[in-house]
Amino acid sequence: MACIQVIGGAPLKGEVWISGAKNAVLPIMVASLLGDGPSVISNVPHLQDVTTTMELLGRMGATLAVDDHLRIEIDPRGMQQFEAPYELVKTMRASILVLGPLVARFGHAVVSLPGGCAIGSRPVDLHLRALQQLGAEVTVVNGNIEARAETLKAANIIFDTVTVTGTENIMMAATLAEGTSVIENAAQEPEVADLANFLIKMGAKISGVGTNTLIIEGVKKLRGAEYSVLPDRIETGTFLVAAAITRGHVHVTRTQPRHLDSVIEKLRETGADIEIGDDWIDLDMHGRRPKAVNITTAPYPGFATDMQAQFTALNTITEGTAIITETIFENRFMHVQELLRLGADITVKGNSAIIRGRSGLTGAPIMATDLRASAGLVLAGLVANGTTLVDDVHHIDRGYENIEEKLGQLGAKIKRTASAGVVSRD
Ligand code: UD1
Repeated sequence: MACIQVIGGAPLKGEVWISGAKNAVLPIMVASLLGDGPSVISNVPHLQDVTTTMELLGRMGATLAVDDHLRIEIDPRGMQQFEAPYELVKTMRASILVLGPLVARFGHAVVSLPGGCAIGSRPVDLHLRALQQLGAEVTVVNGNIEARAETLKAANIIFDTVTVTGTENIMMAATLAEGTSVIENAAQEPEVADLANFLIKMGAKISGVGTNTLIIEGVKKLRGAEYSVLPDRIETGTFLVAAAITRGHVHVTRTQPRHLDSVIEKLRETGADIEIGDDWIDLDMHGRRPKAVNITTAPYPGFATDMQAQFTALNTITEGTAIITETIFENRFMHVQELLRLGADITVKGNSAIIRGRSGLTGAPIMATDLRASAGLVLAGLVANGTTLVDDVHHIDRGYENIEEKLGQLGAKIKRTASAGVVSRD
């Protein structure tokens, strides 16, 4: 197992560029299956989840090629297998995204039912119900979801809960359904809009992009398209918090500031001086200790649950007490137990964490439990006195491209080492 070693204390300073968004590139890669020719996707981040998606599509018979600029060409013309096996689904829940496109395009899909995960139960009932509304016959047998439909028929779908991949799955399926579908209470995340824009380039007819009502007029077929993925707002936010927690000054480039309104507002509340350009954000703490900020997670445009662990880490060293309330996933405070090992003062009550800011943290061996929790722990390590060893960091590679190189370039004392087996929690 890999481990990240951080020696805390250095204020981060300098410039860092942002990679393409994980949560946009995965559905876009999957959507390329809907085309009758190859698609070329650029600004693809070098991430484990991208590799897993390539493996998934490759096993189904799609032809994939990656060039030197990390552009991926996906040609679905050789597709013969319409199955996402458990061994891949269990490493990446986003595999569920193949369900809608496979049924819509090939009339048949078998996708292993994702089990629980570190941050909660994460059911997919809303995906399945909406697919049934589009006329698919859906059964769950032997741990697999099996869906069939000769042709999908348009429907009016109202999601009970805002679901990002649920909206994406059904939007993709509806592009090839007969008639005009409406998705109400749709997720408004920028990654959903990016997927919609890619589908439109493929010939789909979608309106209401970026709103909570999507109207999708089904078409007979879609073509391959070229598309550049939007910048990752969660990676952007993570680097901004890295600057704030270390009282540093970081200039983030190749990003999309308007997707980070709620994060920027909260960072300003900590006392950060933030300037914004078309595609950059500059955060300067002027050496000041950040102030505590309360956070409540919510669907976009609210505060992203994927930024919660990073703000929990930030609040461990702020002036004052903060309350963090997690409303999206029921078990997303796994990082708290690890932060306590660094000397943080946190009490979890139900879905809230009360964090009393300390003047400092002390380094210790800790364990990453999921993707965003890992990021929060690395951020805490940047400010903890002495050495922090974050074990099990394979989670971080699912969603952050070259995290240690990028943080190192900003002056962090960080390196990847083989796990010394320092942490054992059997
Ligand atoms: C996506 C993101 C993930 C992010 C999350 C919330 C991707 C690949 N992943 O995950 O990074 O943390 O959105 O912003 O884009 N729910 C149900 N039934 C369903 C579907 C969802 O009850 O059928 C519930 C979930 O348990 C959760 C809430 O709805 O409580 C939101 O989940 P959802 O938006 O679906 O998350 P994902 O799409 O899995």
